[in-house]
Amino acid sequence: MDDYRNFLKEVLIPADALQQRISELGADISRDFQGEELLLICILRGGVMFLTDLMRAISIPVAIDFMAISSYGAGRRESTGQVRITLDLTTNIDGRNILIVEDIIDSGRTLQSVVDLLSTRNPKSLQVCTLLDKDERREVQVPIRYRGFTIPNKFVFGYGLDLDEYYRNLPFIGVVDLEKYPPAK
Ligand code: PRP
Repeated sequence: MDDYRNFLKEVLIPADALQQRISELGADISRDFQGEELLLICILRGGVMFLTDLMRAISIPVAIDFMAISSYGAGRRESTGQVRITLDLTTNIDGRNILIVEDIIDSGRTLQSVVDLLSTRNPKSLQVCTLLDKDERREVQVPIRYRGFTIPNKFVFGYGLDLDEYYRNLPFIGVVDLEKYPPAK
């Protein structure tokens, strides 16, 4: 894979700004759930980086679990609105406080499916925390309790977000220069 510098148009959110905002979110969550138990549910794979930093910024005891969603290919998902659960929780969420942790909300369809599914399992509470909110692209309304950054409709990568499955490990959010990615073979 190419060095990301070959197609990085701009750094949209630098690493230190991400960490600063995540500290604030962690403090907000810790305050709001003081005296309660909390289960963080990470939506794989993009949410992993955010989950691991966010949980370190939370001072109350938390448990974690994971789900994965398949999108049938982005184009088709956009036209049909269909998503499929490919990895389900191992935890029983009946009567528990749930916080869904996402890297980005775009159309809102992934989150809507997850919220609809988990709501049927009788949680005590069900809230959403997203690092990025691309709100211009929303097709279905989803309630967001905690939001890191509202971002413009640009093609972003890094900090959990991939380009053809790579570059999730970058510690910042970058914008792709679409004239340079994918590189000509
Ligand atoms: C991304 C992101 C969200 C979803 C948001 O996942 O992590 O789950 O898309 O888009 P939506 O609001 O339009 O549904 P993606 O399908 O790219 O999978 P990944 O997390 O494994 O990269």
